[in-house]
Amino acid sequence: MPLPKAELHLHIEGTLEPELAFALAARNGVQLPYPDTEALRSAYLFDDLQSFLDLYYALMAVLRTEDDFTDLTDAYLTRAAAQGVRHAEIFFDPQAHTARGVPIGTVIDGIARALDRSEDRHGISTRLIMCFLRDLSAASALETLDAARPHLHRITAVGLDSAEAGHPPSKFREVYEAAGALGLRKVAHAGEEGPPEYIREALDVLGVERIDHGLRCIEDSELVARLARERVPLTLCPLSNVRLKVIDVLEDHPLRQLMDAGLLCTVNSDDPAYFGGYVGDTFHAVREALDLDHERLRELARNSFVAAFLQDDEERRTRLLAEVDAYDFAGESGF
Ligand code: HPA
Ligand code: ZN
Repeated sequence: MPLPKAELHLHIEGTLEPELAFALAARNGVQLPYPDTEALRSAYLFDDLQSFLDLYYALMAVLRTEDDFTDLTDAYLTRAAAQGVRHAEIFFDPQAHTARGVPIGTVIDGIARALDRSEDRHGISTRLIMCFLRDLSAASALETLDAARPHLHRITAVGLDSAEAGHPPSKFREVYEAAGALGLRKVAHAGEEGPPEYIREALDVLGVERIDHGLRCIEDSELVARLARERVPLTLCPLSNVRLKVIDVLEDHPLRQLMDAGLLCTVNSDDPAYFGGYVGDTFHAVREALDLDHERLRELARNSFVAAFLQDDEERRTRLLAEVDAYDFAGESGF
């Protein structure tokens, strides 16, 4: 049994493996601009966040029906379960679908159908986080929140993703205020490609509880001290950072320094179909590259449950933390 862990930074659209993309394309009569899965996979070489996003949004053309979203989500949960994931907080990008004429209800109902049976089928509890695309307007984000109103019982939190540079968190003050008033929790991508100042804005202007990525805080020692003091969780995605050239090589990742500074760090897969690994693979990779011992890995797994939105099920959090504490690395085959 692998080390039990939660995944807190996972874009469901980023779990679309080439094989499923082609299967859905055939099912929906969509023509992909690649002859086969091999050719598609070889396009997964990115220069930066934008070059990834271009392909990420283009491939979504195959996602059209409720069944497509259910199949996508089921495929992720199956892979995640095999790598020890016991709780997953899943991002989705409604605007990327509504812009193509797919209703938000189709997206949410399709994902939710897989989530509703996830604990029984996969042993994974789940939460859903609705992200706003920050390169679209603040008005579009407000319209999206409005369109999601009939589905709010399915949604735990709002998030902010897509092209970061030039789109500061403060642009979305109003929609985050409205989301908070509706009882939604708040997270935001900040400090991936954007400057440390965006992390401050996400905390101070949007009132987020976790920072997604956030690794560029390392450039600002006062900010690092604040994040440690306030126990703000970071949902780091080391394999993503290498693939999107935020860092050159995994050995340069600041994870260890941030843990040493007392930050509540978690590791996650972000868009695993595109970035070369699911969350268990990520644990393996950082262990090798950063020479993390078993107690460091245990700390990362603990942190993932500490930072999870499990306030409505503290019993489950306590149980999962106990499983992490009791985990015997020596007797197990993987993590
Ligand atoms: N950053 C910003 N937006 C995204 C990402 C990411 O890593 N993945 C999917 N949308
Ligand atoms: Zn992300």
